[in-house]
Amino acid sequence: MKIGVTEGRIPEIEADAVVVGVDDKGNLTKEALEIDQALGGKIAALVQTKEITGKLNELTVLLAPSGIRAGQVVVVGLGDRENFGCGQAYRVSASAARRLAEKKRKRVAFCLGDGWSEGCVEAGISGALVGCRGQDLYRSEKNCHPFDEILWNDDYQAVLAAGQILGETVNLTRQLVNEPASRIYPESFAAEAEKFAEEFGLEIEVWDQQRLEAERCGALLGVARGSARPPRLVILSHRGGAADAPTLALAGKGVTFDSGGLSLKPSEGMQAMKCDMAGAATVFGAMQAIARLELPINVIGLAGLVENMINGDAYKLGDVLTARNGKTIEVLNTDAEGRLVLADVLDVAVERGAAKIIDLATLTGACLVALGMDVAGVMTNDQDWCDAVLDAAETCGEPAWQLPMFPEYGELIRSKVADIKNIGQGRWGGAITAAKFLEEFVAGKPWVHIDIAGPAFLEEAKSWTDAGGTGAFVRTLVQIARNWQSTSE
Ligand code: BES
Ligand code: MN
Ligand code: ZN
Repeated sequence: MKIGVTEGRIPEIEADAVVVGVDDKGNLTKEALEIDQALGGKIAALVQTKEITGKLNELTVLLAPSGIRAGQVVVVGLGDRENFGCGQAYRVSASAARRLAEKKRKRVAFCLGDGWSEGCVEAGISGALVGCRGQDLYRSEKNCHPFDEILWNDDYQAVLAAGQILGETVNLTRQLVNEPASRIYPESFAAEAEKFAEEFGLEIEVWDQQRLEAERCGALLGVARGSARPPRLVILSHRGGAADAPTLALAGKGVTFDSGGLSLKPSEGMQAMKCDMAGAATVFGAMQAIARLELPINVIGLAGLVENMINGDAYKLGDVLTARNGKTIEVLNTDAEGRLVLADVLDVAVERGAAKIIDLATLTGACLVALGMDVAGVMTNDQDWCDAVLDAAETCGEPAWQLPMFPEYGELIRSKVADIKNIGQGRWGGAITAAKFLEEFVAGKPWVHIDIAGPAFLEEAKSWTDAGGTGAFVRTLVQIARNWQSTSE
């Protein structure tokens, strides 16, 4: 999709549609006023009669209006100005884009941004790209029709490129998540990473089965054993900083399908389990964005790619696995596989000299029980690092909430047979016992775990995005990378 700037006065813009905003006090933005004048006060009249309230993400479509060149005007509600941030900017323009993408349109002009910060404009542009893409990858009749071209006010030219990069990388993550497990399995997933690494100048290492064995990745390999598809571990590096500058590590769970293994999931619980590689897809999206933005820092992105299946060689309940760091793990539920995969990935991150680590994983249903579908659970061994992550998430408008890591939870994963076991005692606090498990593999390095089991994948569409993969936390990871120099001092 092309991204350009508008030329001349807004009523003169040649486009299929023009998008403008009204806040919830009924105030028209500067751009909306310009259109309104050309329309002879039509928008103001609709505000007057409360037909348009300006409530956040409200959409009002004015078809074939006379007085302007564009084929239609979409008035989007901006909500409360006081509470308007990047998350709102992203959703507002995504909502408008999503509505417009219901039909084929060549060119859509977004005349938003009046009084927005650069960050908001960037989020708005990326939202526009995200809103017009859907999960209809294999429908012959598409529900969403991406535009040929998006225009933004020329005042914001400086941030167009960054907005485009963020939109495209969020969409990359979404697409990877939306692809079925028959298309995205460890080998093909790693091949996708190789493709874009080459294109955007990232270094890449892919460990195959043999290398994983040589590296003694016993926990990851244990999970992979039940599948006909061999596992992979991907390490992407972006070296934008000085050779001796600290390295940020991003690690992702990449279970390309989670059947549960012998602790088999019921059919219902398995339907969406192609999404269980969202952590890895999020890391890939963020790494591509970091490379394309040429951020002057050192970052490594790691992904553990396996399929959790059942064949005659599948790992069993009661098996003891030896993780790469030497710790022994009693497997009491083969459906608690994500933590086993991440155990070895985190150890590699430590070995590669990570100064600080973030992992992302669709790790537990318990996190959904605790926080609902829209909020990520955040757990840490280092409050300062966690605050930096929460701060970036808030800046981007991606909901996240910290859960406690009291030592008592760690007692719940002690095993009588091995060093630890892969499930807690009983089901309570499952998001936290999973995090306590991961903590065993970070060697005391500052680490934040983000459980995205809720926000990574939507069962139902929202006004601003189709159902399916969301690309949640790609923007937050990029924000963290942008803050990295000051965080790591
Ligand atoms: N991939 C699932 C978690 C999940 C559930 C993600 C729903 C997205 C939506 C994970 O591997 C899993 O199965 N976790 C178990 C852990 C339990 C066996 C301790 C769970 O949450 O039930
Ligand atoms: Mn599972
Ligand atoms: Zn899983």
